[in-house]
Amino acid sequence: MSNHHDVLLVGGGGAGLRAAIEIAETNSHLSIAVVSKVYPMRSHTVSAEGGAAGVIRDDDSLDEHAYDTISGGDWLCDQDSVEMFVEEAPRELLRLEHSGCPWSREPDGQIAVRAFGGMKNKRTWFAADKTGFHMLHTLFQTSLKYKSVVRYDEWFVTKLLVDDGRVYGVVAIELMSGRIEAITAGAVILCTGGCGRVFPFTTNANIKNGDGMSLAYRAGAPLADMEFIQYHPTGLPFTGILITEATRAEGGYLINKNGDRYLQDYGLGKPEPKPVLRSMELGPRDRLSQAFVKEVEKGHAVDTDFGPVVHLDLRHLGEELINRKLPFVRELCLKYENIDPVTELIPVRPVVHYMMGGVHTDMNGATSLAGLYAAGEVACVSINGANRLGSNSLSEILVFGARAGRAAAEYASSHTDTSTAVLAQAADERNRLQQRFTRKRSGERIADLRDEMQKTMEQSAGIYRSGESLSQAADTLHELQDRFASVTIEDDSRTFNTERISALELAYMLDVAETIVNSALRREESRGAHQRTDFPARDDKRYLAHTLIHREPDGSCRVEYLPVTITRWPPAERIYGT
Ligand code: FUM
Repeated sequence: MSNHHDVLLVGGGGAGLRAAIEIAETNSHLSIAVVSKVYPMRSHTVSAEGGAAGVIRDDDSLDEHAYDTISGGDWLCDQDSVEMFVEEAPRELLRLEHSGCPWSREPDGQIAVRAFGGMKNKRTWFAADKTGFHMLHTLFQTSLKYKSVVRYDEWFVTKLLVDDGRVYGVVAIELMSGRIEAITAGAVILCTGGCGRVFPFTTNANIKNGDGMSLAYRAGAPLADMEFIQYHPTGLPFTGILITEATRAEGGYLINKNGDRYLQDYGLGKPEPKPVLRSMELGPRDRLSQAFVKEVEKGHAVDTDFGPVVHLDLRHLGEELINRKLPFVRELCLKYENIDPVTELIPVRPVVHYMMGGVHTDMNGATSLAGLYAAGEVACVSINGANRLGSNSLSEILVFGARAGRAAAEYASSHTDTSTAVLAQAADERNRLQQRFTRKRSGERIADLRDEMQKTMEQSAGIYRSGESLSQAADTLHELQDRFASVTIEDDSRTFNTERISALELAYMLDVAETIVNSALRREESRGAHQRTDFPARDDKRYLAHTLIHREPDGSCRVEYLPVTITRWPPAERIYGT
């Protein structure tokens, strides 16, 4: 296989495969490389459950989808991006239908849609509760049609090759052989997902380590809005496995240890027997997760070996509905908790799920570096603002995967020159990896550093933060970066050296953790998922702005702000439960 391609994608999940398909369809002469550290069907998209948002019914509108998204994001979304997103999402979902995605149906054959948190109307398309699995299958199988798509499965990218502000490819390790290669390209698209693993308790797979965010940051592209971390309100204790919001869309209740539907105490409406849109259990994720913390403080949570929990009650939904619409939830509860939700309560607590922030891009996925694009969770466009609404992200990977694919294809078609300087960089990177990450050493253990990082993040940058906890965390992370310099690699083998990969992933996570903490420290207000106990109010005068965090040559962070784009919806109070 030649090591030069027109467009190179880092990541083989939903955004990456959608981009690959778009490029192949835009220009069949372009050679496309999909470089992924896991086989594409193992990408984290596979574990998405509840659904993908897109207006399809007559009683819904694009403006309502836009408004829900913008108010849900506490007015930090760029409204031009949101307007474009809501318009393109239904087309993308239909396109997937034509490629064979088995969307669930109404009895009359129409696409079925369910309610989701913070949404005024039912607009979430779903395939039972395995939506990500079916979407990824559809995309993967479609990508196999195109001969121009070449896959580098189980290759781990360690560096972006940059010359004079332009990206020319990557350096990557083939995991099977330990071979280190430069793979050059006219354009590169990062589609590596998020970095939930910087926290100890997350729905995210082990592979979600912020690889793309760190690669871009090290190469000189700023990251945006990194302080906004989404906690999903319902994760299984201990494992962090997601119990989809679809359970609440179908009518599940959240109850405290007294059996009360406690969300009524947090400005989210009154308990009704049937789900009410934008109300109670169908409120936005930031508010539900914050309510959980308050219930713990009041002593209303249930204590377990794995910390405090509340209960998700599905018993009244009945076995037939659970089997038809939530079969995976039942399976997960049986396998991981030994609980049958048909007859028993499910213990749940908030769990880190999604990063609203990421590599700063425009609407076409372009970053500040020429030839570098990003799409999906790794990117911040920004349509999610300070709090993403559930089910917008599966549509986001399609809409922005396609847009980044088109833009990168166009760029690569008109920029065919190469750089010899990057070959020297690739040689330096090979030396760095060989010297730094393959020798036996004595020193710090990967697991110890990772554990300290995760605990620091949970204690200081969790659902509630303060200036004091964040500045302590910034110091701790700085020390961890220093200690990482003497990390031990005991495994010297070349074949599937998972210890070396864990060290490289830890380095990525430490970078990302520092950007989260430093961005959160400087934002002296509370907005969406960023709640400062020392600055409890939203402050539009100072912070109706995106945080852009840059890496300085000495490794320190520099923060600046960029105004939010407002088109038609001026900032207002977020009102739920009415
Ligand atoms: O609850 C869920 O199914 C998650 C969906 C999402 O994060 O979009």
